[in-house]
Amino acid sequence: MLIRCDHALAWPLLQNHARAVMPDFDLRGAFASDPARFARFSQEAPHCFADLSKNLWDAQAEDLLLQLARDCEVERQRDAMFAGEAVNSTEGRAALHTLLRHPPGNAPPGLAWALAQVHETLDAMLAYAERVRADADITDVVCMGIGGSGLGPQMAVQALQGLGDARRRMHFVSNVDGHALQAVLVGLQPRSTLFIVASKVFNTQETLTNARSALDWFHANGGSEVSRHFVALTTHAAAAAQMGITTTFGFWDWVGGRYSLWSSIGLPVAVAVGAAAFRAMLAGAHAMDMHFRTSPLQANLPVRLSLLDVWYRNLLGFGSRCIAPYHAGLRRLPAYLQQLEMESNGKRVDRQGRPLALGSAPVLWGEPGTDGQHAFFQMLHQGSDIVPLEIIAVKQASHTLPGHQEQLLANALAQAQALMQGRASEDGHRHFPGNRPSSFLLLDALTPAALGALVALQEHRVFVAGALWGINSFDQWGVELGKLLARDLQLRLGNGDMAGLDASTAGLLQRLRA
Ligand code: F6P
Repeated sequence: MLIRCDHALAWPLLQNHARAVMPDFDLRGAFASDPARFARFSQEAPHCFADLSKNLWDAQAEDLLLQLARDCEVERQRDAMFAGEAVNSTEGRAALHTLLRHPPGNAPPGLAWALAQVHETLDAMLAYAERVRADADITDVVCMGIGGSGLGPQMAVQALQGLGDARRRMHFVSNVDGHALQAVLVGLQPRSTLFIVASKVFNTQETLTNARSALDWFHANGGSEVSRHFVALTTHAAAAAQMGITTTFGFWDWVGGRYSLWSSIGLPVAVAVGAAAFRAMLAGAHAMDMHFRTSPLQANLPVRLSLLDVWYRNLLGFGSRCIAPYHAGLRRLPAYLQQLEMESNGKRVDRQGRPLALGSAPVLWGEPGTDGQHAFFQMLHQGSDIVPLEIIAVKQASHTLPGHQEQLLANALAQAQALMQGRASEDGHRHFPGNRPSSFLLLDALTPAALGALVALQEHRVFVAGALWGINSFDQWGVELGKLLARDLQLRLGNGDMAGLDASTAGLLQRLRA
């Protein structure tokens, strides 16, 4: 039986260390007394260099955390996920997103059949994407999907925009709020539009409502050939067919929604940047998978990031983490990571359903730098809470405007430096305490391969934290209740039935109906 981190032998040692050393720990002093600190706490991983040295930990803390990972058998849990065991215990499913980026051949034992299906579907999806790209009549692609069926494709299309074809516009609609779809439809023509409807289960209210409205618009505006202008990405092709959408690409129930960018759900990315770039993204993710599978724990970047996350969340009591990508293309990355981390690890019970005795997923939030600097960075520097910052910087720009990139990178460096160094002042308002933590992830360029590696890195980091907390990172029961109540309240909005409602909901409903 696997043990939870708070039951591990290393846990009380970590608690003692945090209590004994951390109150007086000072990053400035740590660098001054240890010339090897940067080397000790930085490392290479595929497509990504990470500097973790400006964090509030020391070698002993990391050694104890590594012991914790061994106590909790993180490597065994990792191998079980890669091997296709039913690690999603509440749904009795594997979580095999890593198989989606596994090259053909050499399948993990017992998964040859699944890998063959993966590549058959991938080849078909990419061939379709290339046909769309070659079709000069299609000038606009409207992608409809929410959560894992929307955030990943949108984030990746924006990130790789430089590789896209400017003649084709990519639109994303996720929200059921009709303002979103209507704003996109204005100015479009059915004959030059492709609608991609992405939904794993094909019963998600938002996506189905948007798809129905898009179909209505298509027919009302003289559209013909639904099979050419609508494509569905789903594990439930029959449900799509019921709606009249017969062009479909599938995937499998062992691909979690928030881990599905690598499956047919990635079609918008393939349409935007082409099959070769999509394959390069998969290859980058696979390189990170191999790093995660084969590197010793102390040189394993997803593991080290995750240990730091647990250290901050549970031993130092920091409740949130801020993400600042210093690349405009990564502007949706914070939202993507929010779902990845908070839907995976925002749980209050362990795998056995027992209440957790410690905090799980931190609150993730963020905005691209330098925008965030002129908004909430004040709080990072001088606020009363300590919020670890994760900077994601990209060395080479793909634009040609002189001066911008140096300014951008200088700002990224300056924020990490200012958080750590602070600046003493007699005037409390002008005093920067410093000793505030940040991690620095550096990509050489925002290529498809680097993006794939970055996202896989974050996936595995979330997995390791879940493994340490002893939770199932692959279910999401917490989203169900709201969906159920919304169905009931939609009926009540229509018929005015207030029976059994609490006074607040009844009062609001009455105002909405008046
Ligand atoms: O409501 C949560 C959720 O189930 C996510 O896990 C998922 O990514 C999203 O909804 C979309 O689901 P689907 O792809 O089935 O429409």
